[in-house]
Amino acid sequence: MEVKTSLLDNMIGVGDMVLLEPLTEDSFIENLRNRFDHNEIYTYIGSVVISMNPYRSLPIYTPEKVEEYRNRNFYELSPHIYALADEAYRSLRDQDKDQCILITGESGAGKTEASKLVMSYVAAVCGKGQEVNKVKEQLLQSNPVLEAFGNAKTVRNDNSSRFGKYMDIEFDFKGDPVGGVISNYLLEKSRVVKQPRGERNFHIFYQLLSGASDDTLRKLKLDRDFSKYNYLSLDSANVNGLDDAANFRTVRNAMQIVGFMEDEVQSVLELVAAVLKLGNIEFKPESRSNGYDESRVKDKNDLKEMCELLGIEQSVLERAFSYRTVEAKLEKVSTTLNVSQAYYARDALAKNLYSRLFSWLVTRINESIKAQSKSRHKVMGVLDIYGFEIFEDNSFEQFIINYCNEKLQQIFIELTLREEQEEYIREDIEWTNIEYFNNAVICDLIENNQNGILAMLDEECLRPGTVTDITFLDKLNTVCAEHQHFESRLSKNSKFLTDHSLPHSCFRIQHYAGKVLYRVEGFMDKNNDLLYRDLSQAMYKANHKLIKQLFPEGNPAKVNLKRPPTAGFQFKHSVGTLMRNLQTKNPNYIRCVKPNDKKAPRIFTDSLVRHQVAYLGLMENVRVRRAGYAYRQAYEPCLERYKMLCKQTWPHWKGPTREGVEVLMADLQVSTEEFAYGNSKIFIRNPRTLFFLEEKRRGCLENLAALIQKIYRGWKCRTHFLLLKHSQVVVAAWYRRYAQQKKYTQIKSATIMVQSYSRGWKARKILRELKHQKRCEEAATTIAAYWHGTQARRELRRLKEEARNKHAVSVIWAGWQGTKARRELKRLKKEARRRHAVAVIWAYWLGLKVRREYRKFFRANAGRKIYSFIMQRLMQKYFLGLKRDLPSMSPIGGSWPTRPYRFLDTAHTELRSIFHHWRCKKYRSRFTDERKAVFEEKLQASEIFKDKKALYPSSVGQPFRGDYLEISKNPKYQKLSSAMDEKVLLADVVNKINRANGKGTARIFLLTKNNFVLADQKTGQVKASVPLPDLASISVSTQNDGFFALKLKEGSAGATKGDFLLSSEHLIEIITKLRRTGATAVNHDHLDIDISDEFLVQFKQDKVCVKFVQGAPKNGTGASCKRKNNRLLEVSVPSTA
Ligand SMILES: Nc1ncnc2c1ncn2[C@@H]1O[C@H](COP(=O)(O)OP(=O)(O)O)[C@@H](O)[C@H]1O
Ligand SMILES: [Mg+2]
Repeated sequence: MEVKTSLLDNMIGVGDMVLLEPLTEDSFIENLRNRFDHNEIYTYIGSVVISMNPYRSLPIYTPEKVEEYRNRNFYELSPHIYALADEAYRSLRDQDKDQCILITGESGAGKTEASKLVMSYVAAVCGKGQEVNKVKEQLLQSNPVLEAFGNAKTVRNDNSSRFGKYMDIEFDFKGDPVGGVISNYLLEKSRVVKQPRGERNFHIFYQLLSGASDDTLRKLKLDRDFSKYNYLSLDSANVNGLDDAANFRTVRNAMQIVGFMEDEVQSVLELVAAVLKLGNIEFKPESRSNGYDESRVKDKNDLKEMCELLGIEQSVLERAFSYRTVEAKLEKVSTTLNVSQAYYARDALAKNLYSRLFSWLVTRINESIKAQSKSRHKVMGVLDIYGFEIFEDNSFEQFIINYCNEKLQQIFIELTLREEQEEYIREDIEWTNIEYFNNAVICDLIENNQNGILAMLDEECLRPGTVTDITFLDKLNTVCAEHQHFESRLSKNSKFLTDHSLPHSCFRIQHYAGKVLYRVEGFMDKNNDLLYRDLSQAMYKANHKLIKQLFPEGNPAKVNLKRPPTAGFQFKHSVGTLMRNLQTKNPNYIRCVKPNDKKAPRIFTDSLVRHQVAYLGLMENVRVRRAGYAYRQAYEPCLERYKMLCKQTWPHWKGPTREGVEVLMADLQVSTEEFAYGNSKIFIRNPRTLFFLEEKRRGCLENLAALIQKIYRGWKCRTHFLLLKHSQVVVAAWYRRYAQQKKYTQIKSATIMVQSYSRGWKARKILRELKHQKRCEEAATTIAAYWHGTQARRELRRLKEEARNKHAVSVIWAGWQGTKARRELKRLKKEARRRHAVAVIWAYWLGLKVRREYRKFFRANAGRKIYSFIMQRLMQKYFLGLKRDLPSMSPIGGSWPTRPYRFLDTAHTELRSIFHHWRCKKYRSRFTDERKAVFEEKLQASEIFKDKKALYPSSVGQPFRGDYLEISKNPKYQKLSSAMDEKVLLADVVNKINRANGKGTARIFLLTKNNFVLADQKTGQVKASVPLPDLASISVSTQNDGFFALKLKEGSAGATKGDFLLSSEHLIEIITKLRRTGATAVNHDHLDIDISDEFLVQFKQDKVCVKFVQGAPKNGTGASCKRKNNRLLEVSVPSTA
């Protein structure tokens, strides 16, 4: 929140003189002193700022201060020049009102400093940017240049401006500076040639000599020593706190920034040097024949150097110092100059040279800083002009200066009153006439065109005949005698006749600020400001660009016989222009006061200040301001400031502010004459009323402060308590949470522990059970596997045995056959070889015999003989070949050599058959009786089964062994063997098929010559013994199985138990043997063998049908028998395919 402050806060004395109570000169001065002692150098009179020169730097111009005053209302903060600058700048920028800042005060009061402060403040708060900054910089840097050439040390001020300056700063619509125009007024040029005691010439002379480089000085033909120059006073050439050398560099730098070219700077310095040289030119009198004194230049060296510097012909200038040419209409009269006239001419030239140079500088700066665009600009004018001057000895300059101040006072009165009046009208307040002193009458005394003092002066200057300052005073005495503000000893006004404070050669003017006595001496000369034409022409002839420019009237082509305007006229004219200019702008006043004459800080010289207060018309100022109402304030800040004084308005007033103020004033019972309500402001007639309000406010604030303190303390304690309470709750909550959390974690971990134990226990139990179960399963499997293994091994053993047996039989057989065959072959080969040898020998012998015998007959029957011989040879070869290639002696050997000749075809076939029969016979002849019987059995088996039963082919290779059990040798069957009284033809283990379920029971099957026996395999106990004659027939299937049924004759002894259904691996052998033995036993050669897949078997009473079916192919175990029903046993035979 923005804190609303007021000028009235922490006020030392009163910040605004309008509030001074009582208002007397003493109280006024006392207030200034009081504030000055407290470093409050600024005090207001309404909107006018009084500035006391502190003569020391105060920390009140910092950038922070700039920010503090920026965009604040005028009365919001303690008085400051920044407040005025801000107000002016804002109303220029925001309300488009051109402003002027009028700074007045006596020399050394701080006007120039004030003007610089205003400019620097505006530069700081206005816009920024490259272009704007450049403009700002140029505007600011114009100051050092003008100060170097226009300022000098005086007894009052070490840096006193010796010219009036008005500067228009131009802004664009945004409030950014775009350029400026400087006007200068009345340079104190007399200072160039002569300075009062304790004072100096213009700074630039000293700066140049101290600061320029040796080289520059040499070029300018100057010496660093001040004492070498007549124009430079020596007694105060060095000023404390002024560094001329450094300032020279600053000036050169500033000139560069402002935009001076290097050659321009050089020209300027040459002119400055020329002025110094000029001062050194001295004259001596030279008597002439006609009795007149004539002047001559004493030492021409300086003249020469000066002429060289400015490019002037020495003789021309020399002549101009000796002669004066007066041109009148058609004549040209040349008169010689005496020494004093020559000095006068020299000094006139020096003054003119310097003042014209200064004017040129201002013009040149204006050229640089002028705004680029032609559009209308907002303007802020800053007027830094010499203040009212009252010296002991006052001359033409003081007269002019005071005239200027008189005019400024006038415009001040006019504008202030006008503003006051306008405000009253604006605010709808009844206008009360203000009594004040109007200085228009004094202005009139000076500037009146008919009988004003300036007009009189001009008139006197132009009048032909002898005119002196005294004739001018006489004229004044006659014309102005009646004027109430004009005083002179010799005026018609007899009251001054006895006034000894008024010398004869003086006149006195009663200015608004006090009476000033002017000595008329020099008025005429100064007003004329005469420069002999010869000199100006000599200057014009100079071969120097700048000089030529400065003396245009020296151009002979433009000879102007009219006198140039007088200084007084020129000044009046420019003051008039300035006043018109100022009148169009909104004025802002800064009244500078200097507190002492010693340029010392902290000293407040009462009389000096009193004097200034008087001639600045400050009391007048306050009175005018207070005439109607002393104090005014807008309703809003007023209500804001005093609302705590009334219950209705405190702390907030809801309605319009004006009503609030009305309620407030009514509540405070302020007398109604004491104030008036304007449209936007309240006007307070008497400062007393304001202080009454302030006093009440202060008291109230104390109470409020106590109240605020009380409430704040309460609030603070409460807040602290609440904070503690809250913290306690938070801490407790956190603690509880923590405790619960801990407890919970404990319970949770315990639970998990118990849970895990119980789960583990359960799991282990299950695991144990599962393991047990698994072991049981594994045991069963292992047992089964072992059992199967045993079975399989047994089977394997058996199969291996059988295979070994079979293999042994075939190997023995083959070996035997082989041996026989090889033996036979060897024999045959031997025989063949012998026969062949015999045959060959025979053939040879025969051939020899034949050839011997038949040689003589050969010719007669040679053909037949050869034929028969060849035939014989062929046959012989055939037979021998056949003998050699005879196939094996095995009856089953199928091979036979191929026939060599076709004609032997029949014989070859025949021979093969013979050979086969022969070898069969041979083979048979080798058989024993047993082997013969074996083969007979095989033959019989083939007769029975070949192509009838699928089992047959597999039995062909197997020899019929008969006693498979070796019953007589095996001790196990001893009993059984002994029971058999006959030779056992066949002993084997068969399966007896149980008719009830089709399963087989192992039985020993024995066959003897007359019986067949079935006995228990293990015990050897005979189960059945059937005589062979009781056997009726045998039934077998066509398939690859070992089942056979032994059917008994009906009515036989064995038939009571029924037929036998058996199965054996040696089915073919058993049946063949049964048939062979049975046939012999029964003596008939026929035992029926029925081969079919379905036959009936008699079991006791029932006939059961045995049916053979093809089952799925199966490895290992053979056919299986199953009882289907009472009448059917089904044998499933695995297919071989
Ligand atoms: N506000 C100020 N703060 C500090 N010193 C100041 C101030 N105003 C003026 N001075 C001092 O007073 C001297 C004279 O001031 P100046 O402005 O040149 O006077 P004027 O222009 O009125 O003749 C300055 O050189 C400076 O030393
Ligand atoms: Mg000044």
